[in-house]
This record gives sequence, structure tokens and C-alpha cells, in this order.
Amino acid sequence: MISRDEVLANLGRYDQKKARIGVLASHSALDTCDGATSEGFNTLAVCQKGREKTFNNYFRTQRDASGNPVRGVVDDTLILDRFSDVLLPQNQEYLMNTNTLWVPNRSFTSYCSIDQVENDFKVPMVGSRNLLRSEERGGPQDYYWLLEKANLPYPKKIEKPEDIDGLTIIKVHHHVKKLERGFFTAKDYDQYVEKSQELIRQGVLDEDFEKHARMEQYIIGPVFNLDFFYDPLEEKGEKVELLGIDWRFESSLDGYVRLPAKQQVELEQDGIIPEYTVCGHNSATLRESLLDKAFEMAEKYVKATQQYYKPGIIGPFCLQTCVDKDLNFYIYDVAPRIGGGTNVHMSVGHPYGNTLWRTNMSTGRRLSMEVRKAIEQERLEEIIT
Ligand SMILES: Nc1ncnc2c1ncn2[C@@H]1O[C@H](COP(=O)(O)OP(=O)(O)O)[C@@H](O)[C@H]1O
Ligand SMILES: [Mg+2]
Repeated sequence: MISRDEVLANLGRYDQKKARIGVLASHSALDTCDGATSEGFNTLAVCQKGREKTFNNYFRTQRDASGNPVRGVVDDTLILDRFSDVLLPQNQEYLMNTNTLWVPNRSFTSYCSIDQVENDFKVPMVGSRNLLRSEERGGPQDYYWLLEKANLPYPKKIEKPEDIDGLTIIKVHHHVKKLERGFFTAKDYDQYVEKSQELIRQGVLDEDFEKHARMEQYIIGPVFNLDFFYDPLEEKGEKVELLGIDWRFESSLDGYVRLPAKQQVELEQDGIIPEYTVCGHNSATLRESLLDKAFEMAEKYVKATQQYYKPGIIGPFCLQTCVDKDLNFYIYDVAPRIGGGTNVHMSVGHPYGNTLWRTNMSTGRRLSMEVRKAIEQERLEEIIT
């Protein structure tokens, strides 16, 4: 892990009055740039050649003579051959020389390895660098480990396929679409064998997928991704905020469930098994009696990160949950950074964020509001790692 001293020394070179917000141009980058623009920052999107147009062209910022944005949210782009080239020393130097505060998103930690993010990326980052690793399922202190430590509810783990007894989700990486999911479900061992063989045949699963698979109880109920924010600088009110709730459109699952049941069965008989590739988001709210539980979970998570991943979570995090028929939450995934579904409240905010902040409050905006506040209070080092 890059030392605290080195990060602070790099931050020390910044002209904070000229700080801008930088982000890898994918995942939740538009929300990040939109929020930064609303909070008066300039933005930089680091793009990969061939997929830069959204940022470089369509959402490009135009400002009037006084510098006020009149269109778009991306002031500047850096277009690289590969996303991971952001790690090249000259690119890191460029980021730091232009006072760029980096907001890590899932694309950043997917296209760059966690080791590189921890050791080689010297740019001051808004949020908790060390926690990013906890998202890698299967690591020794991954998010499940943290949930266990925090005494938070998560779906029961199934140790081996022979133990499958009831609907189970098998979480594996897609063999071909490397960054996507090759998830499937099975109700017993026979079905597990049947489906996994079919998926291997189709190239969705690797022959030895089992080595890296996580098997757990499938929770039957709606999905709520709780987009929280932890503000270490807050002194009067609560430090935990609920900004929004999203849920995802997953391909091809969502097409599957819009068919009559008979056709779903026929598809499955033909070996057409739904995939879980995220391709969009929607917004949701919770019934009010569940909100206390949601906050309680967030508080426990924050506490556990402070205990086991010092300094603990800073800024946005997302508890991805299912709620069962008895209204129990199960956390099946945790993002210790800006969530992937926050574009759903980009610019317009979300009922909870807006209610709290009395203005349109998205996660992207809340992030930049924190940066602004930290700069004003001369406490930037408290939210940087
Ligand atoms: N235990 C579970 N029960 C029911 N659905 C689940 C469970 N775990 C995951 N899912 C479904 O799979 C999707 C992706 O799961 P997740 O664990 O978040 O994977 P990733 O780490 O790739 O984001 C979720 O959006 C949800 O629909
Ligand atoms: Mg997830």
C-alpha cells in the first residue's frame, strides 16, 4: 500500500483552489462529473480510445465568459489506448500537475488491478483506498468477512455443490465476457451439474469455474441497492446519509422474466439460461418501517470498516440487498465506493438525498460537496487516501 506520507506529500503539491475532479470514464463517471460541475469544480474524464465519445463529445462542457457551465459536464478528457494506462507515470504526473482529485469507481478497480491501485497509483484519491480490495469476492478479508465481523445478515454460504438443497445462486466470472458475470441458479446438485455443463459447453463458464465460485442461498425478493454516504467531517448531525436506492436491469434475466412462464420453461429446456449482465438502472424507495433497519446496517458496516480497515469508509458506499418475504434484509454485495447505479439520480437527485439536503442531491454531487467542504475547512487530508 502506498504510504500515507507519500499521498499527503502529493496532495501537498496541489493548488487546492484549482482542484478538479478526475474519474475513469465509465461506470458512474457521468454522475461524478455532473455532481462536480454542480459544486463548481472542473472535471476530467480519462477515456479509453474507441469508447470516449460520450464524454469527449456528447457531454462536453461549454462555459460562458464567467466560467459558468451552460452545457455538459466534462471539461477535459485524456484519451488513452487502454484504461489501465492511467497508471503510466507520465499520466499520473499529468493528473497531479493539474490538481486532479481522483474518484475511484468500479471500472478503475476492474481495468487496473487492485495491487496497482494500492501500490502504484500515487494520485490522491477521494475515499478509502484500502477498502477497495474488500470487493474482490474470495479474498481473505472480503466484504463477506466484513459482514460477518459486523454481524450483518448475508445469504447463507453453500460450501460445496453436493450440499445444494434449495434455490442457490452460483457466482462466477463469465468465461468470455471477462468483466461480466457467469452467474446461474440451481435447486439441487443434479441441476447444478446439468446447468454448469451446459454453460461450459456454451463458453459462459470456464472448465474449472468451481475453484472461484461463490455459492449462496438465493434470496427470493426485491433487490434494493442502498446508496449511502459516510461524512467523516460532519460535526452536528449524523455522519451516515442515505442518498438513494437503485436496482438494476440485467440482461438477459430481465427479458426472460417478461415472458410467460411456459416460455421461460421452454427456453431453459433449450439450454437458454438467463445472464446477469447489468445494462441499466432504476430508482426505488423503501417502505418507511424498513428505513431504520437500513440505517442500522449502514452504521454497523461503517463501524466494522473503521475497526478492520482503518481509517474506514469515507464517502459513498453501496449495500446491495434483497428483502425476503418476512422483510429481512440480506446483503449480497458491498461496494466501498460510488455505486454503479447512481446515474439513476444524476442531476435530479433522489427522494432521500433531496429530502436530506433540500436540493437536488445525487451521489456524484454529494461527493464533490464533501470535497468542497473539506477544502473550505482545510481538512482535505481527512477524506483523501
Ligand atoms: N443471494 C442472492 N439472492 C438473490 N439474488 C442475488 C443474490 N446474490 C446476487 N443476486 C443477484 O445477482 C446480481 C449481482 O450480484 P452481485 O453479488 O452484486 O454481483 P457483482 O459482484 O458482480 O456485482 C444482483 O443484482 C442480484 O440480482
Ligand atoms: Mg454487485
